[in-house]
Amino acid sequence: MKESDRSGFGSRFGAILAMVGSAVGLGNIWRFPYLVGENGGGAFILIYIVFSILISLPVFCAEVIIGRRGRASAVGAFRNLAPGSKWHLAGYLSILAVFLILSFYSVVGGWSIKYLVDSAMLKFSAGADADFSELFSSFSTATWSPLIYMLVFILINSAVVILGVKNGIERFSKWMMPLLFLLILILVVRSACLPGAGVGYNYLFHADFTKINSDTLMAALGQSFFSMSLGMGAMIIYGSYVSRKDSIASHAVVTLSLDTLFAILAACAIMPAVFSFGLQPNQGPGLVFVTLPYLFSNMPLGTIVAIFFFISLLLAAISSAISLLEVMTSFLIEEFHLSRRQAVTICIAIQVVFGTLCSFSLQAGSPLKLAGLSLFDLFDKVSSDYVMTIGALLTVIFVGWKIKRSDYLDEMTSGGAVHLPRWAAEVIYWLIKVVAPLAILAILIL
Ligand code: PHE
Repeated sequence: MKESDRSGFGSRFGAILAMVGSAVGLGNIWRFPYLVGENGGGAFILIYIVFSILISLPVFCAEVIIGRRGRASAVGAFRNLAPGSKWHLAGYLSILAVFLILSFYSVVGGWSIKYLVDSAMLKFSAGADADFSELFSSFSTATWSPLIYMLVFILINSAVVILGVKNGIERFSKWMMPLLFLLILILVVRSACLPGAGVGYNYLFHADFTKINSDTLMAALGQSFFSMSLGMGAMIIYGSYVSRKDSIASHAVVTLSLDTLFAILAACAIMPAVFSFGLQPNQGPGLVFVTLPYLFSNMPLGTIVAIFFFISLLLAAISSAISLLEVMTSFLIEEFHLSRRQAVTICIAIQVVFGTLCSFSLQAGSPLKLAGLSLFDLFDKVSSDYVMTIGALLTVIFVGWKIKRSDYLDEMTSGGAVHLPRWAAEVIYWLIKVVAPLAILAILIL
């Protein structure tokens, strides 16, 4: 693709919101609260924040640098920056990660549409005397209905990406992210008014370090990468659309702060409610879909809260899924010279096939299991715990050791146009070059 053809983000504000949109997703609302619940509350949050600052922030800068300097999607960017080397294989790794994530992401995206429809049909209204755990398991393990909802999700997502970067992705994010923020704030306030909400806050913000082990560290790092959309080329491709005049460091800080804030807000919306109704926080992936409906049906104005909640979940899921889809789409456009429409069509087919397999793997007695894990759990675990982690490691090694220091500085200061204090550029440089790679390696080996 010629540089002049690259239709990038139209404004700095739009670029930031698209990045925040990619970062804030199911990872924040669905995954973060249940990981906090499974890993002992406050201590996990603390470790998560430390990892995000010391590891994810430099990885984020490194990805954007590769994208903006390489002016292409992951594979092409590595190839442009290190021609004739094997580095572009790191780009292929990110395509693998995207493909794993999109498969289960679309399934969960479909679930959120189903739950939105159910809330609008008053299924979670006061006094709805249903067994929500049974409802969730019978729906998620059914054959056809999860697939239909998944397909709707895939089509909405594809429609945004077909519209292109500026008219689709940027415009969607610009309108939907502020709305999402407002919705989640309403939920936090609603939750805070519940009797006994304090126990939930205590759980979230009291650090019990006896619960921490090497699995917790891996989970915190994996979640931080997942939540910041790192290690799989999303920030490389978005970086390639970022204007040369924007400050990479400020994009990184804003995205990280809003993403973390959002995850904590989501936990603050969910945990106090869980404790207030005497439920268990360690419900795993079912937390949002089993515990919350129970809660909605037991709280005043529950139906309205439920509708708000599932709209938020859906918006967050779409703004992230578009970045995942854009990684694959731009790869197909660049490598195989397809039109955007053709590329998205191929992606739809891939998502339908692998999403269907993921969904089927949840059925009792399904043969789609490996090492005791369903394909769904396997894709989730392998992508966030391994593929993204290795992708992130390669990214920082590439920028820290392969790219010239002067090129790093040139990108971080946009050729002198952006004022970045010397110390900040140095700190980020050493985080990229030494701290992040060593920390990631240590955690992988542990
Ligand atoms: N960051 C997204 C979330 O939190 C998931 C995602 C991962 C999106 C990787 C793009 C790339 O849900």
